[in-house]
Amino acid sequence: MKDLKTVYAVLFGVLLACHCYGQNSLTIPPQISGTSFQLNVQSGTSVFYTGTTTPTYGVNGVLLAPTLILNKGDSISLAVHNGLSIPTTMHWHGLHVAPQNDGGPHQIIAPNASWNPSFVVRNQAGTYWYHPHGAGQTDPQVSKGLAGMIIIHDSAEASLNLPSTYGVDDIPLIVQSKAFDVLQQIAISTEMDTAIFVNGTLTPEFSAPAQVVRFRLLNGSSMRSYNFGFSNGQTFYQIATDGGLKDTAVALTRLMLSPGERSEILVNFQGMSGQTIDLMSFASEMPQGIFGSLIVGMQDDTIDGYNQNFLNGADFNILKVTVANATVNPVTTIPASLVPFNPYQEDSINMTRYFVFDTLRSLPLDRPNRADGPFGINNRSFSMDSINEVVNLNATEEWVLVNKTLVAHPFHIHDVQFNVVEKGGVSPTATETGWKDVVLVMPQDSVKFITRFETFANSTVPYMYHCHLLHHEDDGMMGSFLVTQATVGIRDEEMNQIRLFPNPAQNVLEVTSSSPIYGFTITDMAGRIVASETGFQRKTMQLDISSLQDGLYIVSMTDEKEKASHFRFSKAQ
Ligand code: C2O
Ligand code: CU
Repeated sequence: MKDLKTVYAVLFGVLLACHCYGQNSLTIPPQISGTSFQLNVQSGTSVFYTGTTTPTYGVNGVLLAPTLILNKGDSISLAVHNGLSIPTTMHWHGLHVAPQNDGGPHQIIAPNASWNPSFVVRNQAGTYWYHPHGAGQTDPQVSKGLAGMIIIHDSAEASLNLPSTYGVDDIPLIVQSKAFDVLQQIAISTEMDTAIFVNGTLTPEFSAPAQVVRFRLLNGSSMRSYNFGFSNGQTFYQIATDGGLKDTAVALTRLMLSPGERSEILVNFQGMSGQTIDLMSFASEMPQGIFGSLIVGMQDDTIDGYNQNFLNGADFNILKVTVANATVNPVTTIPASLVPFNPYQEDSINMTRYFVFDTLRSLPLDRPNRADGPFGINNRSFSMDSINEVVNLNATEEWVLVNKTLVAHPFHIHDVQFNVVEKGGVSPTATETGWKDVVLVMPQDSVKFITRFETFANSTVPYMYHCHLLHHEDDGMMGSFLVTQATVGIRDEEMNQIRLFPNPAQNVLEVTSSSPIYGFTITDMAGRIVASETGFQRKTMQLDISSLQDGLYIVSMTDEKEKASHFRFSKAQ
């Protein structure tokens, strides 16, 4: 196995070397606008390496998908025709639409069939995207080429003097890494994603006018995060997060995006005509535990083949930018303020939910690998037939994400945009202030966000939440939720078989369970394990918590099959 991987690594190196000196002009995906859209999902072939054709998928073409240009407030209809020989789905990532129009795993489009969602565009101006979402099928279909950008415009954006000529000073950049096998075919279950594409172009080059240019960055990769920056160290300005324009532009020299995340940045190329600079990923500076950094996992908990991918922890080029002459009427300034941001407030929360990321055993005797998975959320793996959470329509909720694993997971929720209120125990940085639909949860760390479930209720069709690392999502690190009009939310009935008393507790937390407990761990809200014990069998326990600091904790109790149930309690004086 190891030897084969080495052979792969050498071959990949040779392949890269072959095309390194030749730059390809960056493809700008065609744009389509209006209120009715025909999207034909099809297979075809692309030539990435001279002399070899590679089967790929595309929408209205052989690779990737056209950029959809939408206007807020428009009623649009789409016809998605599946011309593949396998089922697919099409999800509008980041858009606030009814669950039956969302294109999740339940809106399957059979081969040769069409799916016709329609909705009002309710999101604010920003950069969104669309991609397939079939259960267990997201990674293969996205990796083979099914992904496209969605650009929404609105009047607030129009009143700002932002670069907005598509392909000239307003540039979509869909950044994706792919793995190729020895026959130069797109490979799915390998960590050797050594080929970096932008808009489906390898070693791309773009000629930018010498003025303020807007790049719409979308990390459409399966697993890899990028720490964007420029080779000349120049400052750029983040003007939008996942859910659209921010309140103010944030001056940066680095911006990290994990899979699924978007940011719009303004770059000032004035006076640089004739210069060449590179948009790069400074992965050497990326904190460990993030897929793409030098180190993920520790000791026996590692990812097979990870260390052989020379991009991990290395700085590498993404896009060569050659600065050409300015256009007529160039944008020359960076606006100081953009659109008002009114985040949801802590005092409006109706309910708090906890989502614990942990390993799952695939087989009874498997040793769970805390870097490689398979991972579950609240110890569940995704199932098409079950509903994990039920949310009340118009509820404002706080979701607390607790990552017990050794790898960072980008958590994504459908239907809504949220505001991060706490990450790693502190307020979010300026780059994560604004509307988000993906947030990276670092290893053994936690994130809290607030959101509101408005407009759409449906008592049978769920929305999804999941890790946007596509291997993890396909492996089951996903759950479903209903938004309903009902007044009572339903939780797992198995959760109610265990009771904690009192809560809050001061010195002793009493636990009673209808079935025996075989072990417990207590984790703080930063994901650190503060107490644990296994190797007993009891239906009642008295946990001594006198030495814990005041605050919220999660106690996880395992049954005989080592299946864990998670509960929160607070320790108070
Ligand atoms: Cu971009 Cu549920 O996905
Ligand atoms: Cu994950």
